[in-house]
Amino acid sequence: MENQNKKQADKIILTGDRPTGRLHIGHYIGSLLRRVELQNSGEYQKTFIMIADAQALTDNIENPEKVRQNIIEVALDYIACGLDPEKSVLLIQSQIPELCELTFYYMDLVTVARLQRNPTVKSEIQMRNFESSIPVGFFTYPISQAADITAFKATTVPVGDDQLPMIEQTREIVHKFNTVYAPVLVEPEALLQENEARRRLPGTDGKAKMSKSLGNCIYLADSADQVRAKIMSMFTDPLHLQVSDPGHLEGNTVFTYLDAFCTEEHFGRYLPDYANLDELKAHYQRGGLGDVKVKKFLNNIVQETLEPIRNRRKEWEKNIPAIYDILKKGSDQAREVAARTLSEVKSAMRINYFEDTELIRAQSEKFGSSFPVSD
Ligand code: TRP
Repeated sequence: MENQNKKQADKIILTGDRPTGRLHIGHYIGSLLRRVELQNSGEYQKTFIMIADAQALTDNIENPEKVRQNIIEVALDYIACGLDPEKSVLLIQSQIPELCELTFYYMDLVTVARLQRNPTVKSEIQMRNFESSIPVGFFTYPISQAADITAFKATTVPVGDDQLPMIEQTREIVHKFNTVYAPVLVEPEALLQENEARRRLPGTDGKAKMSKSLGNCIYLADSADQVRAKIMSMFTDPLHLQVSDPGHLEGNTVFTYLDAFCTEEHFGRYLPDYANLDELKAHYQRGGLGDVKVKKFLNNIVQETLEPIRNRRKEWEKNIPAIYDILKKGSDQAREVAARTLSEVKSAMRINYFEDTELIRAQSEKFGSSFPVSD
């Protein structure tokens, strides 16, 4: 028990992404930026960042090449944003076979009905028109995600709110495992982004979510010109036709982006006529402030944010083998940790026959067999 408490005191982060496309500024402001801050905070004993390729395959069965090609895109985006392979373990999910074993055993602890209630899985099934033909692997990915989290004894999982049902399900599995077998696993906690606008950055067209298929994303790898063009054509307030008209903030994407990105220092640098965002908003609502001026301000901020990321990405793009090397080293390191957990899991589940001399000794006695006395 003492051992267990000691482990709980060490905080460990695990989180990850499915490699199905390049990352965009919604990923950056909603999670990547924070991961970098957490990584650098010194508060966590370890940070594991997982490229969840096996999970991506659960709903991309026809598209393995897409997943394969996007591993490097995601890894480049991670490193460009400041995830530092010296400080964080970057790993590829499929390279940790222990995760499959854990998943298989956790399946005993979850009912079909419980999986069917998972709201994220439910809505994904609808979105993908899987209703009558749900792949079992897709249906059970929350269990595999529980393996991802528990294999590393993660205490803290920084995620978006769509992932809360996965964390909840993981906690249930941990609780059940620890009750039925032995207190081996750690109950994780979700760490949510507090800033509402950062949590759910809408697409540039004002639609609820940035998504590749809607073509409304600003990618971390976009050029400065692409970013400017996307910002200048962003959705604002359809009723704000003349500069003198009063403008509305509700659903106004440019202001939502400002809520997510801008600080008072940005005003000092780019728009010194206003002290802060409240003043700018008040002027917009009164009338007399044009969209173009606000968009230019936003463009300055986003360019300033993305430029160092883009430059770092370009540098690393010159050295792709080094990225694979980082991923290989991270996966190897992660595998050692997962193997340790798996071994504890197997002994708690009483399936560690060959390491258990006491089992063999006792059964030898029971059957009147000879038993070698080892030295
Ligand atoms: N489900 C996550 C997503 O779609 C990716 C993921 C896989 C993950 N395993 C994880 C996130 C473990 C946090 C912890 O983005």
